[in-house]
Amino acid sequence: MPEVVLTILVVAVLLALVSLVLPLADRLGLPYTTLLAALGVGLGTLAIGLGNLSGLGPLGDLLAGVTQFGLSADAFLYLFLPPLLFTAGLTIDVRLLFDELAAVLLLAVIAVAVATAAVGYALASVTAVPLVVCLLLGAIIATTDPAAVISIFRDLGAPRRLTTLVAGESLFNDAAAIAIFTLLLTALTNAESFSVGTAIVIFAVDFAGGLAVGFALSYLACGLLHRLRNTPVAEISVTVSLAYLTYILGEAYLGVSGVVAVVAAALTFVVYGRPRLRAGTWEPLVQIWQQLEFWANSLIFVLAAILAARIIPEIDVADLSLLLVLVVAALAARALVLYGLLPLLWTAGLTDRMNQRYRAVILWGGLRGAVTMVLALSVSQNPIVPLTMQQFVAVLAIGFVLFTLFVNAPSLRPLLRLLRLDRLSPTEIALRDRAMALSRATVREQITKTGRDYGFEPELADRLLPEEPEDSGKAGDPEAPIGADLSPDRRLNVGLVTLANRERELYLEHLGSGTISRDMVALRVAVADRIIDRVKAAGIEGYKDSARQEIGLPRSFRVALWLHQRLGWAAPLAQRIADRFEGLLVAELAIRELIRFNRRAVWPLLGAETGETLDDLIRARLRIVQDALAAIELQFSSFAEALRSQYLARAGLRFEDAQYQRMLEESLISREVFNDLQSRLEERRIAIERQPPLDLGRGLAEMIRRVKVFEALDDAVVLHIARMLTPRLVMPGERIVKRGDHGSAMYFIASGEVEVRLGERRIKLEPGDFFGEMALLSNKPRNADVAALTYCHLLALDARDFRRLLRNDAAVRESIESIADARRQERDALDGT
Ligand code: CMP
Repeated sequence: MPEVVLTILVVAVLLALVSLVLPLADRLGLPYTTLLAALGVGLGTLAIGLGNLSGLGPLGDLLAGVTQFGLSADAFLYLFLPPLLFTAGLTIDVRLLFDELAAVLLLAVIAVAVATAAVGYALASVTAVPLVVCLLLGAIIATTDPAAVISIFRDLGAPRRLTTLVAGESLFNDAAAIAIFTLLLTALTNAESFSVGTAIVIFAVDFAGGLAVGFALSYLACGLLHRLRNTPVAEISVTVSLAYLTYILGEAYLGVSGVVAVVAAALTFVVYGRPRLRAGTWEPLVQIWQQLEFWANSLIFVLAAILAARIIPEIDVADLSLLLVLVVAALAARALVLYGLLPLLWTAGLTDRMNQRYRAVILWGGLRGAVTMVLALSVSQNPIVPLTMQQFVAVLAIGFVLFTLFVNAPSLRPLLRLLRLDRLSPTEIALRDRAMALSRATVREQITKTGRDYGFEPELADRLLPEEPEDSGKAGDPEAPIGADLSPDRRLNVGLVTLANRERELYLEHLGSGTISRDMVALRVAVADRIIDRVKAAGIEGYKDSARQEIGLPRSFRVALWLHQRLGWAAPLAQRIADRFEGLLVAELAIRELIRFNRRAVWPLLGAETGETLDDLIRARLRIVQDALAAIELQFSSFAEALRSQYLARAGLRFEDAQYQRMLEESLISREVFNDLQSRLEERRIAIERQPPLDLGRGLAEMIRRVKVFEALDDAVVLHIARMLTPRLVMPGERIVKRGDHGSAMYFIASGEVEVRLGERRIKLEPGDFFGEMALLSNKPRNADVAALTYCHLLALDARDFRRLLRNDAAVRESIESIADARRQERDALDGT
């Protein structure tokens, strides 16, 4: 039989077997990779055990094909790595990842370096194998497969940020490990020119270069998407091409890390490409990638396990003791990272504190997967590596993967029980009971009603109802306030989590009705998720924190503002303002709905006391959001107006689109009519998407007019002053001026209130007032603290412009100086007493 046919036969049969394994893994509660590995080892052993296969017909052909199935080292890497990494990048929550990026990158790169070094030196000290080869092995096993830990965390309802941290770490540690692996492989072939110093430099260049290449190519691909609208098949093909091209260009032509480039390309695609896709393409796109990933994963596992089956009979005690050294070193390295490095990160404020027990799960759940296997296989086929070393690396790496799959994976669930992580917290028990009680009530109603319709006796309804939870106490009665036995704090937490969950649902409902964009939904859902995490971690303070954080100006906004003020570059700022504005509008809508939901659904369940506190909290949050909205409208009034109508028009279009889709599905209109409607919609969409011009001038001019000193100035002068002033938004409680500091600017209040703190005295300043002028006039340090009482819009005037203004405008100078004089006298009088 021709070799190609045999290969296809093997792949086809393997895929069939692999598919059968999936449901079994589900039933056993094991990662499917564990069963894949078992399948591979079984097949391999069978083929070897049977010896002469020629008389067995197709089965013999198959088994022979299985054992001879060989791919070159490059084929393994180039064929399988891109789908594994690209899919991981596509499916991670990019926004949460960016929140945690510093921690993730540090953790990934340092963890890989630590693991490589620990394993390398440990093995080199007990064998005669050269250090470089031991380090190579260290790099191979430094990658982790997060699937098992993530599925456990999901089951446990662990904070989502934690899941992101684990997934992100694994994504980048793949990239880092493979970059180090490639580096060491080169070192192996020309050992003379290798030194640790140059290795670090090369690694850094590879890594950064990979990021840049991945970003650039993906950005180009995203630009291309615009031309492919309406052809999902083409859009998806672009991504497949992107993943492979990035890898090949990076690795083979540009001399940077191809893996890092693939990861960067996937993340960039999520950010820039996803919004440009035709509606409804994203889901099939991800599905196709998951399919490719599954195939790559399955083939790698089975092939590697078959190889392992061939090696297993040759394994002796010495090999086993080496494996033991490897296991201990790898665990120790991971423990060092989790218990030594991670606490440093949270002390530095780079990530949230992580519970001891979760860390134990991450430590023991650090399974190794397809990436380790691919690298091991590629070494075992690599002619550059001497034969004995090929064996050494392949045996230990595959042995280690099998160890994690057959020892760690099955013992993970018992470990959870040992750590008592399988038990629900009191808050969660209360939530669960509430849900069950509510559902029992509605189910009872339904069943009784149906029973009555069919003339059944009423007792039947009782027998058909869901079981009551064993440890629930009074949960059966839906009218009783729940958690009466919970402390008020806990009850409040239950309420807050319920509200945040409802908020999450609200955003998703928006998605269903098409009123807000998918991207905005993702953003808002992430906000709701963060609230849930924070409330679980810090209760009511956590809620308040996230409410404050929700309206904080992100760094990208500040950068855009700076670009606009210094370089006159308006586009990025307009985009940021538009995003912020839409986000706040959506938030306002949702929070209003939450107030009603609280009254209607939460209040009766948790009692008046909790209900009222919740109401206060939501209203406080609503005020914060409204203030932030008002601030934008004040500062960019005409722009905000245009945005509001753009937002409405867009929501209208989406709604219309959803209607047409429904009509098509119900066959009320034909595909041709639908396409025609779509192209009309598209034209209108393009017209709407044209951003309204960012007219900072007008908004600013209005703000300046509110300041008393500038009241009487004519338009031309106001415009001139507008160019000197920098708008600044400050938060309640923020200290703007600190007593004793050197003064570099003065501030006019366009909106909000501030407080001047002169010793015990407090002086409130209002819109139209100014402060911070005295230090500039007298060239002395600031003589008081000034802090914001509410959200404030300030107009800052820096010292140089201040002097210019006073020089050019006598009237302004006089009014500023006279007010400063009065203040000085007041101060002196105060000092005298
Ligand atoms: P400066 O000294 O630059 O910084 C602190 C500011 O507080 C000061 O400028 C004034 O703008 C303001 N300030 C000081 N004293 C008074 C006062 N008596 N009434 C109002 N504002 C004051």
